Amino acid sequence: MTKLIEEIGALLESNGNGNAHAEAARIVAVAQTAGSANCEAAARAMAERRAAGAPLAYVIGCETFMGVELVAAEGALAPREETELLGYAALAELRSSDSDAPRVIDMCCGSGNLACAIAYHLPDARVWASDLTDGCVSVARRNVGHVGVSDRVVVAQGDLFAGLAGLDLEGSIDAVVCNPPYISQGKLSTDRAALLDHEPREAFDGGPYGLSIHQRVVKEALPFLRPGGVLLFEIGLGQERQVKMLFERANAYQNIRLVANPTGEVRVVSGHKRIA
Ligand SMILES: C[S@@+](CC[C@H](N)C(=O)[O-])C[C@H]1O[C@@H](n2cnc3c(N)ncnc32)[C@H](O)[C@@H]1O
Repeated sequence: MTKLIEEIGALLESNGNGNAHAEAARIVAVAQTAGSANCEAAARAMAERRAAGAPLAYVIGCETFMGVELVAAEGALAPREETELLGYAALAELRSSDSDAPRVIDMCCGSGNLACAIAYHLPDARVWASDLTDGCVSVARRNVGHVGVSDRVVVAQGDLFAGLAGLDLEGSIDAVVCNPPYISQGKLSTDRAALLDHEPREAFDGGPYGLSIHQRVVKEALPFLRPGGVLLFEIGLGQERQVKMLFERANAYQNIRLVANPTGEVRVVSGHKRIA
């Protein structure tokens, strides 16, 4: 198999993949465990897809997020490592709150990565996840089963909080986590257009300024949050000033915080629903 790993590594490297040899080893290992009759052919087919730009997670069918193994499939954004910052910020908020059995909404849940990881790490938490698209709801439901949290995670479908109407959640939620689409339509039609070759437009398209969903969620989360409950967003690079302003303009949040990653980039903004 060493020769096959080298061959696939060279193919990926020639396509500009900076992690070619580690990815080649992963592809070959997955082809071996899949037990297909012709493991080499299966590995080469996966390598071709990867070389054509498909995310590694789609190619091998899985991804690890916050230490939790998830199914990855077309139709839902492949979970990104950068989103772990949001997940860990939410865990820290929930662990420092008074709630013994926290109630969480994962809005725009995609593959259900945040919902499943939060439920996995907080065994007493209940999570309601929701997304607009059939593809995401289907992958998220598979993940809820795969991670073994189906007794505590519900996956709903709808336009933002419409998917959660009628579940009697209003006023009871300790945290809303949301990694919304946040790329502007202008960028999506020019320098970021390649993102749409393999993953759904709904995962990226944040409207004319990239902030349309943040703008709505800041307002629409309020009826669901309990007083003191927290809303946490992932944001795009350089969006912190505008998103902080959205929280301030809603005139209903306090303790608005910016959270940076280890390289100092602010990628999470959060705020607590004001206690009257
Ligand atoms: C950046 S992806 C994030 C997915 C996932 N939470 C993650 O961290 O990988 C944004 C998600 O928002 C969903 N979405 C876009 N517009 C929506 C809307 N109006 N209502 C609900 N979900 C929406 C998309 O389908 C997509 O799954």
